[in-house]
Amino acid sequence: MIKKIAVLTSGGDAPGMNACLRAVIRAGLYNGKDMYVVYDGLRGLVEGQIEQVNKDFTQDIINRGGTIIRSARLPEFKQPEVSERAANILKDFEIDVLVGIGGDGTFRGLNDLAKNGIKVIGIPGTIDNDVGSTEQTIGFSTALNTICECVDKLKDTSGSHQRCSLIEVMGRHCGDLAMYAALAEGAEGVICVEHPLKEEVLFRKLRKMKAQNKSHAIILVSENLLDINELAKKIEKETGFDTRTEVLGRLQRGGSPTAEDRVLAARMGARSISIALDEKVGSRIIGIRAGKIIDLPIEEAVQMEHEHTHGLRDLIDMLQ
Ligand code: F6P
Repeated sequence: MIKKIAVLTSGGDAPGMNACLRAVIRAGLYNGKDMYVVYDGLRGLVEGQIEQVNKDFTQDIINRGGTIIRSARLPEFKQPEVSERAANILKDFEIDVLVGIGGDGTFRGLNDLAKNGIKVIGIPGTIDNDVGSTEQTIGFSTALNTICECVDKLKDTSGSHQRCSLIEVMGRHCGDLAMYAALAEGAEGVICVEHPLKEEVLFRKLRKMKAQNKSHAIILVSENLLDINELAKKIEKETGFDTRTEVLGRLQRGGSPTAEDRVLAARMGARSISIALDEKVGSRIIGIRAGKIIDLPIEEAVQMEHEHTHGLRDLIDMLQ
């Protein structure tokens, strides 16, 4: 019988991880299980940083950004001897199921643990929204709102000075944050893997805006694609638009989670416990599709590529 369940957060932190932790722990306790946390993600697991917790541990964390059990990246987890050591630690603690909240990297680590005989459940938590097995990750909604708040502020000053603002946002190699923010802000341009830069098209548009004496232009750019300072210089030269760059950086990962992220965290966290308790079901990854919480076998989920919202690119182009 399943008796002990542990939970960890791993990879880049995301708003809503605490709300999810709360849901997992409370749902486990509600079902009479002993609940444990692993500090410092997969690294803490290898170090055996495991502690039993009660309901008090989850008091007043639903609205807190970051993760109170901390997170870490551990590339060495790929090495078979490291994941085997982690699996043995879980066996020593007699943990029956491990719930991991994180992104792709975390899920690959969980999959390695599953291969070592541990039942694992993955919950997608990352601001990037780049996980193949789900339409939305915990943290994406909050990060998107944070970006919009920043862009609203930048619009004020851009407009006062008749400037073009190039704003770099996170997403690793996924353009969702850039594209959704562009749509939500009515931006003049977006540059990301799914919507690559066409310099001439952009310059033509900015020249036209300049000629029409438009007050400002906002261009969202995904990280890891190009040097925005170089692009800014080119824009100034080619279009005459005074141009400034902003890198929003890790600001996007902080802050109190939106209600949407908290509710998603609650639903996914509770699902992880119902899967944990079902002894007929093996290791799974949780997601959301068409509004429904789903779960898939882990070995299938880790192979999936993130699908982009149908028609989003066309919509951005039409409304720009
Ligand atoms: O995966 C989340 C994320 O914030 C990415 O958007 C970004 O590329 C990366 O983490 C940055 O990681 P770190 O804070 O570890 O440098």
